[in-house]
Amino acid sequence: MSVVVVGASGAVGSLVVSGLVERGMAVRATSRTPQTLSLPSDVKVFAADLNEPASFEPALAGADRVFLYADLEDPGALVAQLVRSGIRDVVLLSSSAVTLPGASDDFNGSRFLRVERAIEASGLGYTFLRPGGFASNAARWSWSVKGESAVPLPYPEAVQVPIHEADIADVALVALTGDTLRGAKPLLTGPERLTLREQVATIGEVIGRTVSVIEQTEAESVAMLSQYVPEVWVRQIVKDWREAVGAEPAVSGEYARIMGRAGRTFREWVGDHVELFR
Ligand SMILES: NC(=O)c1ccc[n+]([C@@H]2O[C@H](COP(=O)([O-])OP(=O)(O)OC[C@H]3O[C@@H](n4cnc5c(N)ncnc54)[C@H](OP(=O)(O)O)[C@@H]3O)[C@@H](O)[C@H]2O)c1
Repeated sequence: MSVVVVGASGAVGSLVVSGLVERGMAVRATSRTPQTLSLPSDVKVFAADLNEPASFEPALAGADRVFLYADLEDPGALVAQLVRSGIRDVVLLSSSAVTLPGASDDFNGSRFLRVERAIEASGLGYTFLRPGGFASNAARWSWSVKGESAVPLPYPEAVQVPIHEADIADVALVALTGDTLRGAKPLLTGPERLTLREQVATIGEVIGRTVSVIEQTEAESVAMLSQYVPEVWVRQIVKDWREAVGAEPAVSGEYARIMGRAGRTFREWVGDHVELFR
């Protein structure tokens, strides 16, 4: 069986590639900038852009399964290319945003839903991985932790259930190497609820230095984030934080059910990425 991993440079995609290689699978890796990839020599590397579906033809020829990111403009065109190329199954990195009320009218939910719907309508086999907020979102704090030992936040009591990218890759690997998750849409979260303040404190504990929260107004936070993040994302991030204050987001048991063990904690994620904060 041959698997195409789209986004082999990505945090999740790169772990999917290495997991498939460890399992002795034939792997083809794609990137828009394949020259930047550093992969084992038996991985075949291709240049391809999800917004130019025909660019995938060489990578897809003769392959069976695809791991896919949802960051694309025309899902119908890409899915038609997958079907034309004889792909049997797609494992899509979607989002828990599709499960929220009003998802089809929401900026974030709708961009994943339209990809899921195009795949469902195509007759391809599929698994939709629906993770909630990534632990890696805390990487945005790296510079202020390094520079100020502090993180400015408007809603430090926002509650999240951050998931380690390796947990998402684990489930993707189950889906790509067998049929048990065919048709499944697992909602994936981390194993524990944590406020942003608790996440900041955890970073401090792991790096061995106190890291504090500097409380900001929402306007201050928007102005700060807008320097680095497109406006549409700034609105989404701040809205998610505001709505998560005092919330009790679900802790999904799907990872433990599929993998037979507990998911990785936020503390483990910080330990795995400690260089971001030291
Ligand atoms: N952050 C969250 O809390 C959260 C929650 C739920 C879902 N998600 C979703 O999870 C994904 C992020 O996962 P990650 O952290 O593993 O991502 P990442 O490290 O940022 O990597 C993104 C990957 O997507 C590939 N990609 C993006 N646009 C592409 C295009 N037009 N053509 C081909 N490849 C393209 C990139 O490939 P190249 O640059 O090499 O071409 C890269 O490998 C996003 O889709 C995000 O919306 C995130």
